[in-house]
Amino acid sequence: LMTTVAALALCGTAATAQTVGFSQIGSESGWRAAETTLTRQQAEKRGYQLQFSDAQQRQENQIAAIRSFVAQGVDAILLAPVVATGWDSVLQEAQEAEIPVVLLDRRVDSSEDLYLTAVGSDLVHEGEVAGQWLVDQVEGEDCRIVELQGTTGSSPAIDRKAGFEAAIADHENLEIVRSQTGDFTRAQGKEVMESFLQAENGGADICALYAHNDDMAVGAIQAIKEAGLAPGEDILVVSIDAVPDIFQAMAAGEANATVELTPNMAGPAFDALEAYWADGTEPEKFIQTESRLYTQADDPQGEYDRRKDLGY
Ligand code: AHR
Repeated sequence: LMTTVAALALCGTAATAQTVGFSQIGSESGWRAAETTLTRQQAEKRGYQLQFSDAQQRQENQIAAIRSFVAQGVDAILLAPVVATGWDSVLQEAQEAEIPVVLLDRRVDSSEDLYLTAVGSDLVHEGEVAGQWLVDQVEGEDCRIVELQGTTGSSPAIDRKAGFEAAIADHENLEIVRSQTGDFTRAQGKEVMESFLQAENGGADICALYAHNDDMAVGAIQAIKEAGLAPGEDILVVSIDAVPDIFQAMAAGEANATVELTPNMAGPAFDALEAYWADGTEPEKFIQTESRLYTQADDPQGEYDRRKDLGY
């Protein structure tokens, strides 16, 4: 059965350009900047008007942006939610205004009925892939791990931690000895890594770093170098995102592995919206993007160049 929302959307779509509001988290990482760039590219290619709002990492700014999109009567809203909780009221307001909401890259704990679909990767699996890589890499040797977590309360920080812990759980030789948030930023990744190094015998007692994103890993690599150690050799570095800068570090032998999160979330999101606008087709509640592991053996310079060509 076609919903009222779909029926209404159908009436208004034929000749006019779609207006889409995009509540973006901020620009905390290279990955986030790439997602913004690709969303703008996709909107332009499809002839949409994109209303872009940068929330500077604050949920209250995202809520205000969504309310403003609702007041403007946009045709759809893209939301990359900074944290997982606290979205029920504003999602209800969008639903009452019959505006479909698509979640990008992070998840919320609200009822699925409050949004059209969510585009993203299996975030737990990403953590598992990173953890399994380390298990295989150390081949039974003892390994004391430090962990840089993403933004507290965000779904990638929660899920990537859980996935990594699950992967190492049955391996007594692997242990997370320190774990703290670096808020997904390069600056905080460096700062927190400096404190880890200090607390762990100048870094001599650390075997590996697991960072929930590449930017924190890049900041930590700098801290490791400044401490007189060789990142990628003295301390193994595994992270998530696969942005150009981590491939540069991998090409230099300073990072070991990364798990890709595609920044092109808007492509599948707009495809789903177009089908919905056309005839009310309801997409699956979760549209999953691929996650794959890259190591130093996977032509890091070529991967860097390929992403730069795509405009990341
Ligand atoms: O939600 C995806 C995460 O957010 C990316 O891994 C990280 O770089 C970004 O800040």
